[in-house]
Amino acid sequence: MIPTGQLLSTVPSTRKKAATNKLGCSHSFMGNNVREQNTILSAINYYEDFASQYDSKSAEYHWYSPQIMFGLLFDLIPPEPRVLDVGIGTGLSSVLFKKIGASIVGLDGSSQMLRRCKEKGITSELYRLNIERDVFPPLEKKFDVVISNGVFYFFRNVKHPFLECAHKVRRGGYLSINFESTRDAVYEEYENYSNASIQESPVGTTGVVTYRHNPRLFEIVARAARMKELRRTKHYAYTSPQTGQEVFFTLIVWQKE
Ligand SMILES: C[S@@+](CC[C@H](N)C(=O)[O-])C[C@H]1O[C@@H](n2cnc3c(N)ncnc32)[C@H](O)[C@@H]1O
Repeated sequence: MIPTGQLLSTVPSTRKKAATNKLGCSHSFMGNNVREQNTILSAINYYEDFASQYDSKSAEYHWYSPQIMFGLLFDLIPPEPRVLDVGIGTGLSSVLFKKIGASIVGLDGSSQMLRRCKEKGITSELYRLNIERDVFPPLEKKFDVVISNGVFYFFRNVKHPFLECAHKVRRGGYLSINFESTRDAVYEEYENYSNASIQESPVGTTGVVTYRHNPRLFEIVARAARMKELRRTKHYAYTSPQTGQEVFFTLIVWQKE
């Protein structure tokens, strides 16, 4: 158990290994500052630099995903819920839950995003870790709702982080995750016909790789974690600063049996 509000710095962020496809532009929600062309960055490293602009760019690129996720959960969750925000960033998703009296614990890999989140005073605890590969901290109680908004599309492997998220939900509680779906693929260079489950985005000006996942993957892992799907929607997430294209996420809400 880590003291309230303490930011962990025990888990260093890692560089991703070079991707094979370097054509086109990735369209992760990271602003339009251009790093060394075709250099692969971990998303965490990117957000260290992008943190100061994150909130203002969110408005500019129509990041209403927090409102959409909150809206899908609002009539399900209890008043004053215990919320775990996985990839909390600056807290744009959590701040809505705060308005209904939530107590909020956040996880993220970027110390700069966490610092900005902490300044908002909406969380009781914040932890720094690599969500894709680390075991989550042993938090005292389970949560009424676990959310992860705009995070899973940075992960090549979703099984471990999904199971960690599901493990933190109390029985009868809820989990909501959004991701880019393979079924929404629009770019030819985005398609990888040899692997229908995962598609790796081309590396563009941001230098960060993002992944599309087949919703079937989530269905299989959710079943193993005894998470029952309650709601699913596909929503406009933001307009890509890099390509100008509209990006869509599939959002699912599960309930723990
Ligand atoms: C698009 S932002 C979303 C932030 C917030 N959920 C929101 O709704 O605005 C993605 C966040 O995921 C974090 N992130 C990406 N990959 C991560 C990883 N492997 N481990 C920990 N955090 C990661 C980034 O640091 C960033 O804060």
